[in-house]
Order: sequence, then structure tokens, then C-alpha cells
Amino acid sequence: MRTLASDDSLVLVMVGLPARGKTYLARKTARYLNWLGRPARVFNVGNYRRSRLGSAQPASFFDPDNPGGVAARRDLALAALDDLVAWLGEAPGRVAIYDATNATRARRDLVVRRLAEAGLAPVFVESVCTDPAIVEANVRETKVSMPDYAGADPDAAVADFRARIAHYERSYEPVDEDDRSWVKLVDVGRRVVHNRIQGYLASHVAFFLANLHITPRPIYLTRHGESAFNVVGRIGGDARLSERGRAFARHLGAWLPERIDGTPQVWTSTLLRTIETARALPWPAVALKNLDEIDAGVYDGWTYGDIEATAPAEAAARAADKLRYRYPRGESYEDVISRLDPVIIELERQREPVVVVAHQAVLRCLYAYFVDLPAEDCPRVDVPLHTVIELVPKAYGAAETRHPIGT
Ligand code: SIN
Repeated sequence: MRTLASDDSLVLVMVGLPARGKTYLARKTARYLNWLGRPARVFNVGNYRRSRLGSAQPASFFDPDNPGGVAARRDLALAALDDLVAWLGEAPGRVAIYDATNATRARRDLVVRRLAEAGLAPVFVESVCTDPAIVEANVRETKVSMPDYAGADPDAAVADFRARIAHYERSYEPVDEDDRSWVKLVDVGRRVVHNRIQGYLASHVAFFLANLHITPRPIYLTRHGESAFNVVGRIGGDARLSERGRAFARHLGAWLPERIDGTPQVWTSTLLRTIETARALPWPAVALKNLDEIDAGVYDGWTYGDIEATAPAEAAARAADKLRYRYPRGESYEDVISRLDPVIIELERQREPVVVVAHQAVLRCLYAYFVDLPAEDCPRVDVPLHTVIELVPKAYGAAETRHPIGT
């Protein structure tokens, strides 16, 4: 996220009872920011506990009336916070996410004081869940498989985790400090309250968080059918589909309705090859400029061979750093990622299936976000023609299936 305030650091401090999706929100935010080019890292206090004291701590460890447990948990919380402050101090422009319950006002005061010593003021992100069924599902789906319960009987693990939650509930104080910055997310996006959120970065993160939900739904990514430019190896342009490309569009038009229940959103770029491909689908499509292929600038319409022969220094610069290389008067992959930011927000927001018919570079960037690839790997993701990539976003990552169509 390259903005006028790119040197600003940010600390997000998660707040919430166990099994309220704090780690999900923390990791998603870190993934989003890293994808946008903002180094972000999660500091999870539970991981400090596991690595320093071992995974198998009983629920009584979390009892606020157990002085040994209280002291140990405070030490672990401060150790994680010290590492967070040190990491932020290594370079400007980083975002650190402190993932812990931070369930009492006293604990939050301690965190604020420690951060203030380093000249930092946090934004608290509280996750509140009012639906016991969602908490129960979270406990059963993610908590019993955590290292804390490795080898344990699942029912005993659920009972122990419920007892852990009950200990935190006894001392829990919701965030309501009027003089501090915070975002309160009730039932993952059903209700969002912002308090004193200021500046581009914090506002942007708050906006991202407000659009998240946990309803599973598939996202289908496909390139357009083969175009006349693909046939001759030219990049860019606005060529129409080849005969093979039109056949792919027909196969796609028969295959997707078999696969999708209901009416999905269909998004194309504004270029003919994606619009012609989507025309074979039985649903209306919306053409989005943000989905247009990477702009090859002065080399639009050239072949890679022509560029290599005529401008070897450009070809070498691109090969050396494909993520940051910007075609003269065109775009880099980083530029494409920036303009795909609103598309990612929209994809996160949708609760229905979405079909994206776009281009190789654009789909590489979208794919990298959903499967959490390092930015450097994004320009080399394999996104072949005539293959639908089906992604179902999950708590941590996405389930992926690749469907070659009509071959
Ligand atoms: C943990 O040890 O799992 C989390 C500790 C906390 O944040 O309360």
C-alpha cells in the first residue's frame, strides 16, 4: 500500500474472548497488508505460551484467581510485546498485530503504556460474537485441532476449552475507552463501530475489517479464451477470441451453470477477449476497468521476442524484478496489485459465488492474495488458459481446485 504516509507504522491490538475469530482477523489483515506491499506481522501470545511453557496447559492456567498463571501470562504477553516493538523499530512503515485476548482494561492499559514508551499508540480491534452457535462451531472446528489439544479426546478438548473461555468471561471488559482508537466488530461485520480512527492506514484497515465475513462461498477465476494475440504471442492489445478461444467460451458456458447453484456475480475486464468469453454464460456480466490486463506501455502489441531483440536492457530488468519492473509508460505487477485493492474488498464482501473472467497478470495477483503467496512469487504463478481455478476462502487460506475446461 504505497501512500503519501508510507513511512507510518501501525500497531493493531486484538481484543476478545477466546474463539471469537481474533486470530482469523489478525492473519487476514496481515495477509492483505503484505499483499499490498506493507510489511505486516502477527505476534500471537498463545504461540509464546506454547513455545516457552509447552502446549498442554489446562484451563486452570487461565483462571484469573490462579496467581501463578496470571504472572506467567503477563510475562508472556510482555515478551511478545517487546518483540513486536523491536520488529517495528527495525524499519519504517511496518504494521504489527498483537494477537491476544487483552480482555481487561488493566491489560490494555499495560499494553498502551508499554507502546507509549516506544512512541506508539495502538488501534484496538475487538471481535464480539453474540451468536453462541458460531462460537461453538469455532471451538469444534478450529480449537480442538490446535496444538494445545494434540492427542486429546475431542470431547475432553471441547470441555477444557469451554472452561478456558469461562475463566476469561469472568473478567472480560469490552472496549469502550472513549479516548482511544478502536474498531469493534460484532458478529464479523454485522455491526461495526469505529472510535477515533484517524489517518489513511488505520482507516483503510478498519474499512477492510468491516467487509470481512465467514460465509463460505466459491470464487471462480478464469482467463479469457485464447485470443488472436495469444496465437501469435503478442502481449496487451484488445484482440478478439480465436476459434479455440470461442470453443473454450462455449465449454465454460455449459460447465459453470452445472457447477454453480443460483446466480453468481460475473465480472470481466473492459477488454473484448474477456467480454466475449463471458457472453457464453447465462448470467449478466459487469465489465470492470480494474480487471484490465497489466498495461505493457510502449510495448503493447509486441512479442516478448521483439522486446528481447530490440530492448534487451528492458527484458533483463523485467526478468530481474518482475514484481517491481514497470513497462515504460505502463504498469508493474505492484501497480496492478494497487488497482486490484477495491476488487479484493468486493470479493471479500460478496456472500454469493463470483466468477472473474480476466487476464494472466491480474489473476496471478488475485490468486496470490487468496492463497497467501509472498509478493515476489506472484508474477510467476501458473495461470494457464482454459482452466478454471475454484477457490473457497477458509479460516486460514483457501481450498483450491483447478478445472481444465474443454481439453
Ligand atoms: C494464550 O495463551 O493462548 C493467549 C493468552 C491471552 O492472550 O490471554
